[in-house]
Formats: sequence, structure tokens, C-alpha cells
Amino acid sequence: MTEFKSKIRTIQWIDTYSRMVDQTLFPYEFKYVDIKGGQEMFDAIRTMIVRGAPAIGIAGAHGVVLYAQELEKENLSRDEFVKKLLEKADYMATSRPTAVNLMWAVEKQKEVIKNSKSDIKGLIEELKQNGIKLENEDIEINKKIGDYGAEVVPKGATILTHCNAGALATVGYGTALGVVRSAFANDPAVQVFADETRPRQQGARITTLELTMDGIPTTLITDGMCSYFMKKGMIDMVVVGADRIAANGDTANKIGTYTVAIAAKYHNVPFYIAAPLSTIDTSIKTGAEIPIEERSHDEVTHINGKSICAEGVNIINPGFDVTPHELITGIITEVGILRPDYTKSIAEAFKK
Ligand code: MRU
Repeated sequence: MTEFKSKIRTIQWIDTYSRMVDQTLFPYEFKYVDIKGGQEMFDAIRTMIVRGAPAIGIAGAHGVVLYAQELEKENLSRDEFVKKLLEKADYMATSRPTAVNLMWAVEKQKEVIKNSKSDIKGLIEELKQNGIKLENEDIEINKKIGDYGAEVVPKGATILTHCNAGALATVGYGTALGVVRSAFANDPAVQVFADETRPRQQGARITTLELTMDGIPTTLITDGMCSYFMKKGMIDMVVVGADRIAANGDTANKIGTYTVAIAAKYHNVPFYIAAPLSTIDTSIKTGAEIPIEERSHDEVTHINGKSICAEGVNIINPGFDVTPHELITGIITEVGILRPDYTKSIAEAFKK
């Protein structure tokens, strides 16, 4: 299979700090920002300078290193250092609630802290190395997801996606857009329909930007248009990412994903989730247990700083919804495509 070379690197540890693309500036600017403190990283995740489940996982892992570097300056005993750092790690994991990759990556750093036999300097080095390892693994995992996914992309397919599950939601390559990249590398007739993804417009601002940068043909549509194009037979498959998948396959992803899944079922369009195993939370049985982030009302009431509605109107703004497992054709992971019955296939994937 031909490998697709993507130019985008979303987040990277550099010596003593974390460098990331500032995603709040899209599509006007493509600029890197250096995050040098623990609280600064917490805020970068919360304000979505970095966003997308796998990317915020890596950011959280970097954040633990930044806190460790700060605590080193306090001249604490090793025991005190470890106690405080574990508290800071737990705090970092609360910067956003839905994407389980954040908790997963912070937990990986906590394991390093708990298992280390080194002095404080040595422990910080181990945390850095673990962060870099998680970064590199993310890209490798996405390429595997891409290659497994490409096997189910029909020739010349038009793939609909929602939100941004691309290179910019991961360290690089992407999950749903990793499938697109791998398919496109072998079949230049593949193209993408990108939902704009109200209210924060990740589809319009981010997906169209990264696919255009990589030369992949993309058509932007508004969220309400997806069933129109499915009815016309213009969509061959849907591939989206995930923020948390329950043990039965129920999947939380960006608000509006559930609507796309219902439309896909009605029109017999295959609906795939692409996600690493680190997005699967086997501690919860169903999607009903997934915490859904409630975001600022301004995201709904305003576009580019201008109000689009009557002042004082009631607003509600859940950031994610849960697609029931019955609507999902397959979950594309780094160990292969999981199929229903998901309770069984997910459990087997974790045994591998
Ligand atoms: O609020 P965001 O932009 O962080 O939400 C991102 C999504 O919902 C993505 O689809 C998901 O994180 C998968 S990213 C590979």
C-alpha cells in the first residue's frame, strides 16, 4: 500500500516545553505556540488551543512534565514531590471531561511516576521520554487505522466526515482523516464531504484547511445538508472520530454526529468510527455513562464575535453526543475493524 506523507505535526515536545499549532486561529493563521507551564497547558486544553481526543491526550502527558519541572524548583523531598505531582496530574486530567484519551495519557504518566526508582531529575527525564514515546506511537497507530480503514473504502468514494478527526486532532495523520489519507494515497478519485460542524465549525475551519493543505479534494457542506446528499446517492460512506467509546460500542463524538448516523442508517450508507484503542473506555458499560461537556453559550449565540440571535434567548450547548452502537457499521482501530457484537469484539481487541 502506498504511504501518504502528511506535512502536519500538531504537537511536539521540544527539550523543556510543548510546541503546538494554535487551533483557535484557524483558518486565518497557521501558527505554533510554545506552552511552558502546567497551568498554561491546562488552559490551552480548556480553551481548545489544542483539541481533538488524541491530541489533548498528548497535551495532558506534556502538561504533567511541565508541572514536574515547576515542582523541581520547590526543593521538595522526593516523597513530597511525587505526592504533589500526582495531584497536579489528576488536576490536568480534568481540563476537559469527555475525551477519555486525556485521562488515559495522564494515567500513563502517573504509572511512570509510581513505578520510577529514580531521583527527581531522573523521574522528570522518564516522564519526558514517555511523553515522546506516546507522541510517536500516536502517529504509528493512526497509520495503522488508516490502512485498515482504507480496505473498506469503495473505489472513487465520497466520504462524509463530521468535525475534525484529522492530523490536527492527533499528533499527525489523523484517525477518520487517516482513513481518508490512506485511501487517497492509492486512489486519487477519493474525495471528502466535510460537515461544517456547528457551533465551533471544526469541519469548516480545520478539516477543510488540513485536507486542502494535503491536496485532498474536499467539499464543505452545512450540517443540515448531509441527508440531502445521502438521498441523492452522493455519499458512499461516513467516517468520523470518537472522544469516548463505551464497552458496548456506544460512541461519543462531536455534537451532530448522532444526526449523521441516523441519516446514514436511513439511507443505507455505511457509518464507521475510526479511533485508537485508547479512546475505548471499558470501565463504562454504555454511552449513558459518558460525561458530556457543556460549553459556553457564546459559541451558539455568536459567530466571529457578532450575535446571531435575539438577546436573552435560552441557550444550551452540549459539546458532544452519543451515537448508539446499533448505528455503527464498524469501529476502525489499530488492531483491525471491530464489528458488532461490540461487547465481544471490543473485549477481544483488548486481549490482543
Ligand atoms: O471539541 P473537539 O474539537 O476537541 O472535538 C473533537 C472531536 O469530536 C473529534 O471528532 C474527536 O476528538 C476525534 S479526534 C481524532
